[in-house]
Amino acid sequence: MSNHSIPIQYDEPGAALGGAPLFNFVYCSQVRDGVGSADVDNIIAASRRRNRAQRITGLLVFGSGVFFQWIEGPKAEVMSLVKLIETDVRHEMMVTLSTDEEIRERIFPTWDMELVDAEDIQEVLQDALQTAQDKRSIDALQLLLDNLQARS
Ligand SMILES: Cc1cc2nc3c(=O)[nH]c(=O)nc-3n(C[C@H](O)[C@H](O)[C@H](O)COP(=O)(O)O)c2cc1C
Repeated sequence: MSNHSIPIQYDEPGAALGGAPLFNFVYCSQVRDGVGSADVDNIIAASRRRNRAQRITGLLVFGSGVFFQWIEGPKAEVMSLVKLIETDVRHEMMVTLSTDEEIRERIFPTWDMELVDAEDIQEVLQDALQTAQDKRSIDALQLLLDNLQARS
């Protein structure tokens, strides 16, 4: 390790990735039998450490045994993380819901990885929709909200 490591440069809240495309990966999966809230807390603690260093932000929704995760950041870093997550034995049946690469703002610029209860996800997405600036983000959020409302 060098003693001259460069401090992490966070984006301005809401800003694009320094003009470079932002990649986002959305999936859902099923928790493995025997995995409980303490394991989920461990996942979040590890995620916050690791994601910060990788300039990754997003949220993890957990409820009724199902994970739903929104990951956004530089493509190479996001894809390396997805490879790690794919082999994680704490969940299974991972299904990719969407991937996207655009020059745009982050939807969750200040969240290294936030755990959100399934009951609260609608509120979180609505808040994000209020602050989202660009059309792609607004459309993506609106689609997620419409899907949620159609199921409730
Ligand atoms: C549903 C789920 C979501 C996860 N999300 C992240 C994440 O956002 N960031 C992360 O670093 N690890 C995440 N993990 C954990 C990784 O699979 C892996 O265990 C971890 O990155 C390894 O970190 P370590 O090498 O520091 O021990 C997640 C695991 C699961 C089951």
